[in-house]
Amino acid sequence: PASAAPLAPDVNNCEAATIEGNEHIPCCPPKIHDIIDFIHPPHTTKLRIRPPAHSLTPKQQFNFEKAIHIMKRLPPNDPRNFYRQADVHCAYCDYAYKQLGFPNAEMQVHWNALFFPFHRAYLYFFERILGHLINEPNFVIPFWNWDNTEGMQMPEIYDHPNSPLYDKLRNQRHRPHKLLNLNYHGDDNPSYDVVDSNLRWMHKQMITDANTAEGFHGKLLIASHEANEETGMGTIEKSPHNNIHNWVGDPNAKNHMNMGAFYSAARDPLFYGHHANVDRMWSIWQGLKNGKARDFDNPDWLNSSFVFYNEHKQAVRIKVRDCLDTRRLGYVYQYVDLPWLHTKQ
Ligand code: C2O
Repeated sequence: PASAAPLAPDVNNCEAATIEGNEHIPCCPPKIHDIIDFIHPPHTTKLRIRPPAHSLTPKQQFNFEKAIHIMKRLPPNDPRNFYRQADVHCAYCDYAYKQLGFPNAEMQVHWNALFFPFHRAYLYFFERILGHLINEPNFVIPFWNWDNTEGMQMPEIYDHPNSPLYDKLRNQRHRPHKLLNLNYHGDDNPSYDVVDSNLRWMHKQMITDANTAEGFHGKLLIASHEANEETGMGTIEKSPHNNIHNWVGDPNAKNHMNMGAFYSAARDPLFYGHHANVDRMWSIWQGLKNGKARDFDNPDWLNSSFVFYNEHKQAVRIKVRDCLDTRRLGYVYQYVDLPWLHTKQ
């Protein structure tokens, strides 16, 4: 049927992903047999607070490094292994999955309104796995606070060559303390005031151009249809999200790996800091007092779902409706000032 329906990946129909130049790379997870439904953590759970990456306590940094280190060294066939986690992103982004019930349509979580919920759920399971590996149930991942002047550079914790948070496939000219340009298009030394431009840009992307669900989230994808890269994206996904991927990736590496390409982006630990801030933007947008926009109430969107392996190696189906409120997932973001809030375009 061509009628609207919730979107979901057909986990029994996963093939090597297709990347630029029609190259195929394998990134399907280990074969999924049984899928359990997601259950929220109990209401009584104390909220965990994700901190900004530029101001971690030594203990937070230690735990984060330790957990990523262990995750990288899990057996390669363990779905919780760091590189298998990176493959999850590849599978949902480079056409490994077909849409459940629509074998001719690709599952794509970018360029449409699945973008925020998919990445929220993905980070949620990633974080739970890390916490489990170091036996710290309150573990949280940090966010790269790129919308605040303090965070407008690559956070230093990711830049120590012997750290598990390091990735050598990055633009060497953008190591700390190079100022991050949220509207980066390849020019390292623009003639304008970059900080000022960043703040105005945030205001535009979060407020001026994001006053509808479609403006912020992007277009609802209709099951059986393909996402459209030109017309489907919401404000934040398009920019600064995409620009930051390109700013971090290595311009001398194939496809600007790692951060510059879908299939490899999540091999860089900085991916998760970047996406935690993207995720934070969603919760800030939901709470904007001067914004009237609310999330979609479209049932097909709310019932769309994704499948992830959890910390116990169980495959779990989580719906968009399960992801709308970070507090129901057991976490919030540490409050930091929003200098762009009143900086008009
Ligand atoms: Cu799934 Cu930043 O992309």
